[in-house]
Amino acid sequence: MSLRKASGGSMELGECTMNPGYQDAEAADRGEKNQDLAEEYTQIKPYAGMPKEVLLLYSSQARYRVPREILFWLIVACTLALVALTVTVIALSPRCLSWWQASPVYQVYPRSFRDSDGDGVGDLKGIQEQLHHFEYLNIKSVWISPFYRSPMKDFGYDVEDFRDIDPVFGTMHDFEELLAEMHNKGLKLIMDFIPNHTSDRHRWFNLSRTGDPHYKDYYVWTDCNATAPKPNNWVSIFGNSSWTYDDLRGQCYLHQFLKEQPDLNFRNPHVRQEIIDIIHFWLGKGVDGFRMDAVKHILEAAHLRDEPQVDPKRPPEDVTTEWDLYHDYTTSQLGLHDMLREWRAEMDIYSREPGRYRLMVTESYDYHEVEKTMMYYGTPQVKESDFPFNFYLMDLPQNQSGMRVKHLVHLWMGNMPKGQWPNWVVGNHDRSRIASSAGQLYVRVINMLLLTLPGTPTTYYGEEIGMENINVTDSQIQDPAGKYNSSASRDPQRSPMQWSDDLNAGFNTKSNITWLPVHPDYSSVNVEVQKKEPGSVLAQYRFLSTLRQSELPLHRGWFCYVHADANVFSYLREQEGLGRAFLMVLNFGKESAITDLSSIRELPDQLKVLMSTNQVNSGTVLQKSHIPTEVGEGLLIQYSTHTRFNPTHPDQCYVSMKACYLSFVDILYKC
Ligand code: GLC
Ligand code: MG
Repeated sequence: MSLRKASGGSMELGECTMNPGYQDAEAADRGEKNQDLAEEYTQIKPYAGMPKEVLLLYSSQARYRVPREILFWLIVACTLALVALTVTVIALSPRCLSWWQASPVYQVYPRSFRDSDGDGVGDLKGIQEQLHHFEYLNIKSVWISPFYRSPMKDFGYDVEDFRDIDPVFGTMHDFEELLAEMHNKGLKLIMDFIPNHTSDRHRWFNLSRTGDPHYKDYYVWTDCNATAPKPNNWVSIFGNSSWTYDDLRGQCYLHQFLKEQPDLNFRNPHVRQEIIDIIHFWLGKGVDGFRMDAVKHILEAAHLRDEPQVDPKRPPEDVTTEWDLYHDYTTSQLGLHDMLREWRAEMDIYSREPGRYRLMVTESYDYHEVEKTMMYYGTPQVKESDFPFNFYLMDLPQNQSGMRVKHLVHLWMGNMPKGQWPNWVVGNHDRSRIASSAGQLYVRVINMLLLTLPGTPTTYYGEEIGMENINVTDSQIQDPAGKYNSSASRDPQRSPMQWSDDLNAGFNTKSNITWLPVHPDYSSVNVEVQKKEPGSVLAQYRFLSTLRQSELPLHRGWFCYVHADANVFSYLREQEGLGRAFLMVLNFGKESAITDLSSIRELPDQLKVLMSTNQVNSGTVLQKSHIPTEVGEGLLIQYSTHTRFNPTHPDQCYVSMKACYLSFVDILYKC
């Protein structure tokens, strides 16, 4: 760099005017002047545009260097601290609950929910018209039973085309509109998925019957005799042999349900691929999950040997129902879970989109072979179902008592793999309505149980208003299971939803037809009337569903048994770090009761009832030694505590994902 001395003692560098005290830098190289120059430079004041040498001179002075270094190290330290804090917060945060854990699942049986076009059968547009009902109930997840194209032999569980909508329910456009509208409202749509079988009208079955080389092994065929078509003793769930002879092919095909529902052959890799493609089809359209139908039936033993009889002495020709055999070769076969896990993995591909977790729920009635049910949860390494449906509470009416309810609840809680998420079903389209089987008196307490247990509650349409079964005369029977055996008919629980006391209970307001009769109690048991009554079944359902979502102890806290007797089942819900907890005292018995919880020292002596199913008792203050309940009454008691129950009673308590609440920053952390 060359510097010129300008006249008047000032120096110029290019266009910059330099400090007059500055000397030629070359002079600095001359050894003898170094000392003097250094002294001189220190006299120079910093100025804009100073050359590097001057800058360096100043910047190395302690008063500039020290603050600069302090600032530098401060920034480094803050950055590291922020990174460490972020990592710690992430590591310490418990997983947020996903949408399917945060809200009850509501089951819509589409034929019966709302008929928009007046043909007497509910449809997709009808569901769309009523979406406000889910918002009103604070429900986010809606499972809709099948609406695929179907000849309706089993009302949609016999699928003719997995990629089309049945005209009775609407069009693909209606479906897309419904889904978009649901997503706009923050609602999730769970579809029914029926992998075990198709309709006998499905294109694959027709091609299989004719022996098309690609399709001939799409179903389970075997040689049999046209006059006595029974290759073995296997029976259908709907009764009689599960084999039917097909004239065209001259062989028998397997159907674990109706003869119009041939079982697919999952040992054929093409069939497996077809099913995966269908899963992709619907996930691609944006559905939020699947309820996988009848999964235990998906595979059958290839050897086709007879199943053992429950009563070996019974003449084989009398073996006609599913209860007569042990289903060693037609259910839960080796390879089933591998397949479900494969489907799960396909669903997970779509779950990676932010906020778009896809739910998988499996349906399998394993009755008291609870370990079979629990297998559907998968393992800590390999994920399967988010939860298998828990049907145990549907057995509650068989023997109503507090101890019985505890037993049924414990069947799940005591067997569920650690860290998994429970769920509870009290009714569906296959089982009697709980209001009829348990009795109207118990409807409210059952809803209270459902909405305050840990895990996801499932509500079958109409349970939120206490709908009951209808009486169906033999000539009115629609259900194929009822045609085989009228006492097994599922029509009684499938009657039209009771919206109001208008024509057809508001289900079909356009014409006077309904595919099944409306229940005669509809003028008092309906949504519109109950919305106006503060203590109605509906009002209580709504209150509890909202409370469940807003109260940490209820939706993700500990669940602990505190008492069970012939009438009362009592448990509490508490959250570490939170002073607010809930005690439930529910009377499922035949008598009113006084419950003494004075031995539970973690409870305060006085307890205030936040809600009773018997409205007049809400707000009362009780002694813990004397908690009265009427038959069918449930009490929800909110109390404050600093001593929690779970640390000292680990064998009575369960939690899916342990978390502690830090009140001063209002967060949860892993603890
Ligand atoms: C499931 C359905 C039932 C149907 C059967 C056959 O169990 O819930 O309604 O009949 O599967 O698909
Ligand atoms: Mg219609």
